[in-house]
Amino acid sequence: MRLLLLGFGTVGQGLAELLLQKTSILKEKYGLDLQVVGIADMLKGSITNTAGIDLSAAIDKIKNGKLLTELGGAFGGSALAMVESVNADMMVEMTYTDIKSGEPATSHIRAALKKGMHVTTTNKGPMALFYHDLAKLAKANKAKFFYEGTVMSGTPLLNLIRETLAGCQVIEIKGILNGTTNYILTRMEEGMSYEAALKQAQELGYAEAVPDADVLGWDALAKVTILANTVFGADRKPGDFPCKGITEITSSAISDARSRGKRFKLIGRVWREGDQVKGSVNPQEVDLSHPLAGIMGATNAVTITTDAMGEVTIIGPGAGRIQTGYSALVDIIAAGGAR
Ligand code: HSE
Repeated sequence: MRLLLLGFGTVGQGLAELLLQKTSILKEKYGLDLQVVGIADMLKGSITNTAGIDLSAAIDKIKNGKLLTELGGAFGGSALAMVESVNADMMVEMTYTDIKSGEPATSHIRAALKKGMHVTTTNKGPMALFYHDLAKLAKANKAKFFYEGTVMSGTPLLNLIRETLAGCQVIEIKGILNGTTNYILTRMEEGMSYEAALKQAQELGYAEAVPDADVLGWDALAKVTILANTVFGADRKPGDFPCKGITEITSSAISDARSRGKRFKLIGRVWREGDQVKGSVNPQEVDLSHPLAGIMGATNAVTITTDAMGEVTIIGPGAGRIQTGYSALVDIIAAGGAR
């Protein structure tokens, strides 16, 4: 199976590391022999190789501050041009998220699906804005379209709902959907400043390229919208839901909440109200005895309320290099692996 990787930042490198670590299990257990035939990255350079790019050498180049093009096979065009001109079986879209326009990722996904390439994306912009169009395009071109990593990184929330809870009606999904803000709130409670905690979240690869998207709640809002559209079958846009981030929560407000037996959490929620699907993102003071109060650092946790099963809760990583890279790996196995 030939892959194109679009974006070789935190997530792209995490996926490359996993592909190297898991070469034998992918072959032996899933019959998958994967070759990355193209990598496109705006800053790190773009290369192609029909015989397969040496991923270990590619990671080394980036670690040493070099460009991918030093490996040979330089590709002169844009990422979109690569999708249009290089033949592959699956495209992995991991470029930066732009929640307002969904670009350039949406154009990359459309171009790949039009060619009948399977697609997986970790990019929330296209999913929050154009999910139904993209799903239709995939169907029309008999391509598979996956997006597990767009909510809770590689923690299998979407697969859990689609596969394992198949047949249940989902009534509400509620929880902590952004790793960066939960990390910041955790560190602030320990006494760190907001600025230092945000810097750490960036260094650890949790934050978006423009971290405003995290702290103002837009990342959680994109995830709420993705859940509304993919799980609840709605056709909503991020702007349809009220959203408030954590920028107004001060260290003293956090200590004051603690003294009252409470802890601030940024809560995303999607629910049915009659025929309507509603959504919201806002910081809430959660009682320390509540299960969500114990979710610390970049961990996410979501409770799914269903008709047949009542409440089912899933807790796991919500961000991170390997954790988000893993979401693409699981989608690659779903697209091409024999199981
Ligand atoms: N910036 C996001 C977060 C990454 O902190 O949760 C995962 O979507």
